[in-house]
Amino acid sequence: MDSGGGGSNSKAGGEEFVESGVYHHDSNHHHHRYFSSAIVKIALLFVVAVVICFALNQSTYPPTQFFQRSYLYSSIPKNEPPENQPSSVNEENNLERILKKASMKDNKTVIITTLNAAWTEPNSIFDLFLESFEIGNQTKSLLKHVVVVALDQKAYSRCLEVHLHCYALTTEGLDFSGEAHFMSEDYLKMMWRRIDFLGTVLDLGFNFVFTDADVMWLRDPFQRFYPDGDFQIACDHYWYNYTDLNNSPNGGFNYVKSNNRTVQFYKFWYTGKDYFPGKHDQDVLNMIKFDPFIKEIGLEMRFLDTAYFGGFCEPSKDLDLVITMHANCCIGLENKIHDIKMVIDDWKNYMANSFVEERNSSSRTWTVPRICG
Ligand SMILES: *[C@@H]1O[C@H](CO)[C@@H](O)[C@H](O)[C@H]1NC(C)=O
Ligand SMILES: *[C@@H]1O[C@H](CO)[C@@H](O)[C@H](O)[C@H]1NC(C)=O
Ligand SMILES: *[C@@H]1O[C@H](CO)[C@@H](O)[C@H](O)[C@H]1NC(C)=O
Ligand SMILES: *[C@@H]1O[C@H](CO)[C@@H](O)[C@H](O)[C@H]1NC(C)=O
Ligand SMILES: *[C@@H]1O[C@H](CO)[C@@H](O)[C@H](O)[C@H]1NC(C)=O
Repeated sequence: MDSGGGGSNSKAGGEEFVESGVYHHDSNHHHHRYFSSAIVKIALLFVVAVVICFALNQSTYPPTQFFQRSYLYSSIPKNEPPENQPSSVNEENNLERILKKASMKDNKTVIITTLNAAWTEPNSIFDLFLESFEIGNQTKSLLKHVVVVALDQKAYSRCLEVHLHCYALTTEGLDFSGEAHFMSEDYLKMMWRRIDFLGTVLDLGFNFVFTDADVMWLRDPFQRFYPDGDFQIACDHYWYNYTDLNNSPNGGFNYVKSNNRTVQFYKFWYTGKDYFPGKHDQDVLNMIKFDPFIKEIGLEMRFLDTAYFGGFCEPSKDLDLVITMHANCCIGLENKIHDIKMVIDDWKNYMANSFVEERNSSSRTWTVPRICG
């Protein structure tokens, strides 16, 4: 297996490194039903072989079938918490303790985001993310529930600087500040590592909202979540209704309650990395959402309407309704930052005029996406 240490700029190699950033691409409309329990059982026997193939074939997987976007993740090993560190560091970095401190007291809910060095530069995505909580309508108080999962030292330091709850998902001897391009080997490893990590959070009994740092928080989302949903996810495109599996989910924003169904579901989802080598979590989600296993465990899946949880793929049309705005459907860190800044300006304008009695429809819409979308 290629190590993720270097990285050419060649597109062919699957090791293309550009600016980093978390991002989830448009969902393809897969309707595979072959991830059935029976096949799962049989396929278990082949997991080892598949893993080996995965390792050998990784660099030949053609990323071109996907809409290319920049991504945040670097190579992340399985081990956690960090090894070879003084025990005081491990104590400081105890996940359960951090979650407990950060969680909403009434319902053990945390807000989780991931971060690496490139997104912590001054004026970069992370600053805009934080700013959105400041300028959002009653979102500021949510900041104290945010847990930043830092992927490198720089991100960790930046997190401490802004006094958020910080968890270091790093391992001695590996450099996570390197930037993994969408669908590179490192990128895939990190995406799957994240699913695994979020499964651990559920295991520990915490509900979470996972949010990419390029999601702007403009209103409190909790009133808009479905009371009866276990797993609720934002969409690139909201085609149908909130239960319709044909919607196109985007893994960059989701709300998950901790219970036996979701714990099982995350384990199931995570095994998808072995059954669908070369696919990332969002593609696998699009395949397994139809699987009978989901019905079997009784998982209630909900799709969040883009009217409230919008993005550049499909912006919410009415600023009176918008809750979050995701810089999805956007290639390139600079473009992303440019358009997010426009989101912030639009929102400030909107809020500044919030006392105007009759806002007409043009004063309640976005000027974005400009470059993205
Ligand atoms: C959890 O509790 C907080 C207050 O501590 C509240 O704002 C939030 O809406 C609650 N979330 C859910 C899902 O009930
Ligand atoms: C902000 O939230 C408060 C309380 O929910 C609400 O009364 C007010 O109308 C909101 N302002 C805007 C601009 O949405
Ligand atoms: C949502 O869509 C599904 C599938 O198309 C349909 O069976 C269901 O009745 C719809 N639910 C609502 C509330 O419209
Ligand atoms: C799972 O179910 C068992 C038994 O019904 C229960 O004791 C346990 O607390 C549940 N776990 C979670 C995470 O809800
Ligand atoms: C809507 O309001 C804005 C400012 O309040 C104004 O400039 C614009 O002309 C109005 N548009 C319409 C169609 O009335």
